[in-house]
Amino acid sequence: MSVTAVVGAQWGDEGKGKIVDNLAEHSQMVIRFQGGDNAGHTIINQQTQQAEGGKIVLNIIPSGIFNADTACIVGTGCVVNPEVVLNKMQVLESIGVSIDNLWLSERAQVILPTHRLLDGLKEKTGRGLGTTKRGVGPSYADKMARRGIRLGDLKRPEWLKLRLTQSLDYANKEFARFGEESLEFEALYQQCLAWGEQLGDKIVDMLPMVQEAASSAQEILLEGQLGVMRDVDWGIYPYVTSSNPTPGYAAVGAGLPLNAIERVVAVVKTYSTAVGSGPFVTELHENSADFEAGETLCNVGKEFGATTGRKRRCGWLDGVALAYSSWLNGFTDLAVTKLDVLDGLSEIKICTGYRLPDGKVITRYPDTLDLLPDMQHPDKRSTLEPVYETWPGWQSDTTRVRAWEDLPAAAQAYLRRIEALTQVGGVVNPRLRYISVGPDREQMFEM
Ligand code: GDP
Ligand code: IMO
Ligand code: MG
Repeated sequence: MSVTAVVGAQWGDEGKGKIVDNLAEHSQMVIRFQGGDNAGHTIINQQTQQAEGGKIVLNIIPSGIFNADTACIVGTGCVVNPEVVLNKMQVLESIGVSIDNLWLSERAQVILPTHRLLDGLKEKTGRGLGTTKRGVGPSYADKMARRGIRLGDLKRPEWLKLRLTQSLDYANKEFARFGEESLEFEALYQQCLAWGEQLGDKIVDMLPMVQEAASSAQEILLEGQLGVMRDVDWGIYPYVTSSNPTPGYAAVGAGLPLNAIERVVAVVKTYSTAVGSGPFVTELHENSADFEAGETLCNVGKEFGATTGRKRRCGWLDGVALAYSSWLNGFTDLAVTKLDVLDGLSEIKICTGYRLPDGKVITRYPDTLDLLPDMQHPDKRSTLEPVYETWPGWQSDTTRVRAWEDLPAAAQAYLRRIEALTQVGGVVNPRLRYISVGPDREQMFEM
């Protein structure tokens, strides 16, 4: 058995979908272990050429789905909107991708229409966090408060009735607080039953499948959503998602013993992006000296949200946040993406410290409020000053490079610096392993 977790090392959108799609060619199982359809994992390969725009954005279906022999499971740690799954199943089938290899854990939570509505209402209050409004937070809140509905419940009418009554009762009280009308039980109940029927045998007890795969020496990939900087415990709380995108949770969400995870592949983008509110020290906003470089990263990197279409906030690589992330995730291997986006730059910066208002420089990643000396800042932007080191650019096209030796020396040096930044405390010592030089499945190589 070989189990590899593939996780986002930054604020999400590092290119996890692309890496999982590639690695899944040699894996027998891919399990999405947390999150919901807040994810937007972009896949570009031969099969997606049939789709609109030549790509498919997966939200909850695992990114291994393009390999018919790879079992793809939406794990117990996920929150699932059945409507979204059913729609995406149709889209995949319409371009000839088989979904016979797709399964959903009966223990995964359901995102109900009430969750989506509540997420939207909370975002409208002016105290919103910039969520994707997919109902992820309210669904996880119901799970923790033990009034959630699980996918398996959709196929148990009497039990569903009991559970849904409790869940809707709570949601309707919340709607009343927002001055909104209650939702009617019967319509929601019928909707849930219909989902149960439509998903039918796809809703399974995943554990026997996982145990079988693990004991027959198969390659298993655990696909994370988002990145550690939006982790509910260690991210920029409260500007976080409502689950843990870290390998510690991967074992829980996928139904594997913790010590089964052998490798943790960190997907690291060569610069930083974030969507939604919260402090992001290296952001190149309109008042930053390198604002133009930020615009270049955004335009060349096509940094627009895969799910919401929002323009992503862009900035230089944050080495302080990366070291923090590496420690918390226990990275063993690095998959560095979007090297090609830096091809045209003459200089590239890496942040190695934050200057506090009193002039002192820190190199450890602090808690949210310490990043926000100006708590009242309307965009919740950090006013700490990033301390940068500057690296020379290579100013040549890397998109066709398929071997380390063929990379320009300046690109090699930049990548080695990223590797060094992720090696922490003599305990976590990841190695550069995959380098991605374009969005297509084939545009990467292993070292
Ligand atoms: P995810 O959420 O981590 O799967 O990442 P997203 O799909 O949201 O965002 C990554 C974006 O970068 C997508 O548009 C990918 O097609 C694209 N991408 C991934 N790897 C590379 C790369 O190496 N170079 C370039 N130029 N684009 C890439
Ligand atoms: P992938 O998997 C980038 C952000 C939202 C918001 C915060 C909470 O494609 O990397 P939520 O809807 O989860 O309650 O929103 O997290 N966010 C993402 N940002 N990529 C994602 O997913 C994201 N999923 C959530 O913008 O700041
Ligand atoms: Mg994404």
